[in-house]
Amino acid sequence: MAATRAHARIQGFGDSVFTRMTALARQHNAVNLGQGFPDFPGPDFVKSAAKQAIDADLNQYAISSGAPRLKEQVAIDYAAALGRDVDPMREVVVTNGATEAVFDAIQAFSGPGDEVVAFEPFYDSYPASAAIAGATFVPVRLNPPDWSFDLDALSSAITPRTRLLLLNTPHNPTGKVFSPDELEQIAHLAIERDILVLTDEVYDRITFDRAVHIPIASLPGMWERTISVNSTGKTFSMTGWKIGYAVGPAELVGAIQSVHQFVTFASPTPFQDAMASAMEQARANGYYDQLKRDYTHRRDLLAASLAQAGFETLPVGGSYFLMADISNRGFETDVAFCEWLVQTAGVVALPPSAFYLDPATAPLLARFCFAKSDATIAAAADRLRAVLE
Ligand SMILES: Cc1ncc(COP(=O)(O)O)c(C=O)c1O
Repeated sequence: MAATRAHARIQGFGDSVFTRMTALARQHNAVNLGQGFPDFPGPDFVKSAAKQAIDADLNQYAISSGAPRLKEQVAIDYAAALGRDVDPMREVVVTNGATEAVFDAIQAFSGPGDEVVAFEPFYDSYPASAAIAGATFVPVRLNPPDWSFDLDALSSAITPRTRLLLLNTPHNPTGKVFSPDELEQIAHLAIERDILVLTDEVYDRITFDRAVHIPIASLPGMWERTISVNSTGKTFSMTGWKIGYAVGPAELVGAIQSVHQFVTFASPTPFQDAMASAMEQARANGYYDQLKRDYTHRRDLLAASLAQAGFETLPVGGSYFLMADISNRGFETDVAFCEWLVQTAGVVALPPSAFYLDPATAPLLARFCFAKSDATIAAAADRLRAVLE
């Protein structure tokens, strides 16, 4: 179709930076620390559960809002995290990844003339989802090195037209875990201005050192106005299965379900069943503690490799990304640096400017993903050293 036939709402979406960097990586046979997904296999107990589900002929459409077995497991997890009962049938909806949950929620709660506020840098589907809804996307800056925000800036970004505040903690691409004080400030504003909060918590199980993930829905007065979005893809290293979900009060989840039924109708049945088994087993077999230990090891390995190559990295509380300072490397933009890095060193990093509304205002950093095997991180380290020493 001719580009000019595309509606104005989606013009400018173009190819995402992920697509471009993946193409460059292939071209240069590069070690890919750009894309945010594991290059190691997901756990055997999760894979077996999927095989069993397929063999048990759980292969037809699931109930649109999600397989009851999975919704029950999600409700158990969120009840524990929020310290309240969660009704699996009315307060949980299963979606095709967190991406679809965010998309559905933005369509459900905003439209033309409305505003959606989000912290910047932001996951790139957020502004696209707002654009498809016809809503205006309003960014509020997180400032390095600790990625704090200015409370007055947040307060003035929220107007009578604001419908939704998007929060992502632990945060991609910065690795920030919002502190209890920050969450209280956000909650206070949300209640005072009567807006909804959508919190994307896909990295909630991947936190480091003393950082603690606090779901904003657990704060007083917040359950009523919060949609908590999560994804089994990150937690169980099965990003290709695209099993995500949203949790919240029945009225909000019902509105998301109204959109979901016409976007994808339902998520793949055997993978929903497998994730129900995975969540049930993980609670008992120590998987979540092991996940943290494994990611702490990978983070330390990559941070040490980058340090050896002369890069300073910013502190990371959660997620599987490290931000490296590239301001003294002589590049005008992070894109120029990342292109040079893939062409010269054969290592892919992502330019975080792709997570800004105006890329020219992004700080000079590069995002390296450590959801990678030791061998991949070691290979990247060798290449970085060879070129940069
Ligand atoms: C913050 C954030 N939200 C959502 C997603 C996508 O999750 P899913 O694959 O479940 O759609 C990602 C993946 O990188 C992410 O970083």
